[in-house]
Amino acid sequence: MPPYSAVIAEHLSKTFAPPGGGEPVEVLHDLTLEVPAAGMTAVVGASGSGKSTLLFCLSGLERPSAGEVTLLDTPLSRMNRTQLARLFQDEIGFVFQSYNLVPYLSAEDNVLLPATLAGRRKDRSLARATLASFGLDGKADQVVSTMSNGEQQRVALARAITARPRIIFADEPTGALDTTTSSLVLDTLRGLADETHAVIMVTHDLDAASRADRVAVLRDGRLVATVGAATPAQLLTLMHTVGKEA
Ligand SMILES: Nc1ncnc2c1ncn2[C@@H]1O[C@H](COP(=O)(O)OP(=O)(O)OP(=O)(O)O)[C@@H](O)[C@H]1O
Ligand SMILES: [Mg+2]
Repeated sequence: MPPYSAVIAEHLSKTFAPPGGGEPVEVLHDLTLEVPAAGMTAVVGASGSGKSTLLFCLSGLERPSAGEVTLLDTPLSRMNRTQLARLFQDEIGFVFQSYNLVPYLSAEDNVLLPATLAGRRKDRSLARATLASFGLDGKADQVVSTMSNGEQQRVALARAITARPRIIFADEPTGALDTTTSSLVLDTLRGLADETHAVIMVTHDLDAASRADRVAVLRDGRLVATVGAATPAQLLTLMHTVGKEA
């Protein structure tokens, strides 16, 4: 196993200034978290608790307002936009909560988009195999705007993992999927985590979170607990109790 951590966040805060003026809103508050180089970390918490913002900050897509994020031994505050973009391109797969696919491209061309943008070789058979592994055989040539939500979500997943990046961020990767398809996706993410990849997955599904090696619980932008592997029932209890003592 490599000696580095995938991500270290230290005293991370993120504040948004409302576009029309007024009091800034603090969305993440003094959050410290270390994600090992391999394994699966789940992030759970209520809607609006800051999970997506956290993934954006950990992956370098958003600059924190305070604190530091170190990605693969590289402190992001020392990098300019171009260096950040290159690190993102080379080392990170990101499944956006809203997929962020290019609507007029086919599933296969969406999966190949990171390679296209990076000027890397496009491995069409690998792209098709990844789509097939998510039950999308026969759909590779379909334009994604004509696909169902769950199909688009799986294209977004295929795009994030095909190049086998060292870190995979997945924001609600099973949100639009039925139980069987969800299992396919979780098995794949689990398999990557069991190899040498770090998978950081936001989820509302406690069954999905129970497949992780550790679970971080967010409440109102604060990290209120980090626990090792836990059952769905244990996680439910934890979410309803921890951080509510005050
Ligand atoms: N760019 C922004 N400007 C202002 N406020 C923002 C911005 N981005 C996020 N927020 C606010 O930060 C809070 C957390 O948002 P975030 O999307 O991180 O929540 P979440 O935990 O991912 O929720 P969900 O489970 O619904 O996806 C919300 O109240 C949201 O309105
Ligand atoms: Mg979100």
